Amino acid sequence: MHWGPQMDKSTQKTMFSSKTGNWATPQDFFDKLNWRFGPFTLDPCASTHNTKCANFFTESENGLEKDWEGFTCFVNPPYGRGIDKWIEKGYNEAKKSHTKVVMLIPARTDTKYWHNYVMNASEIHFVKGRLKFGDSENPAPFPSAVVVFDGGNELWRVEGINR
Ligand SMILES: C[S@@+](CC[C@H](N)C(=O)[O-])C[C@H]1O[C@@H](n2cnc3c(N)ncnc32)[C@H](O)[C@@H]1O
Repeated sequence: MHWGPQMDKSTQKTMFSSKTGNWATPQDFFDKLNWRFGPFTLDPCASTHNTKCANFFTESENGLEKDWEGFTCFVNPPYGRGIDKWIEKGYNEAKKSHTKVVMLIPARTDTKYWHNYVMNASEIHFVKGRLKFGDSENPAPFPSAVVVFDGGNELWRVEGINR
């Protein structure tokens, strides 16, 4: 766990690579989510260059193996193979006390993880239009959703959210 100030904006480089699945969250969209669902206190999948929170876990620390209890987590996981593990982790961590997990993920509604975990979220917000991740000029080739795991098993809100 890193405790300390975030890098300032000028030194903070957003990372964008569709090959690695590291689609950095657009800052203005993060700010909106942070206002609505945060304040976020942990970014469990990040690097020192792209973390959205002062507390974060890197790949070498492996946020999947860490305890997220007590945090309001913002999770934009790597989008490659293995994204299901992050969604399962978010679902399970949110059952812990005082723990909320908000995930920005591709809206792949046909996957097993969508039906096993996302359909048991508290809220799903489908993003209208396509996000531009990282420094990309182009919109993502997939739709996105913001999924809120808040401990319960009942989906009580499904709606759209503007970028
Ligand atoms: C989609 S990027 C998100 C970056 C940033 N948190 C954001 O929202 O813009 C995913 C990040 O997760 C990191 N990562 C990959 N595997 C990880 C792991 N097992 N534990 C923690 N971080 C990991 C990658 O290095 C990358 O920085």
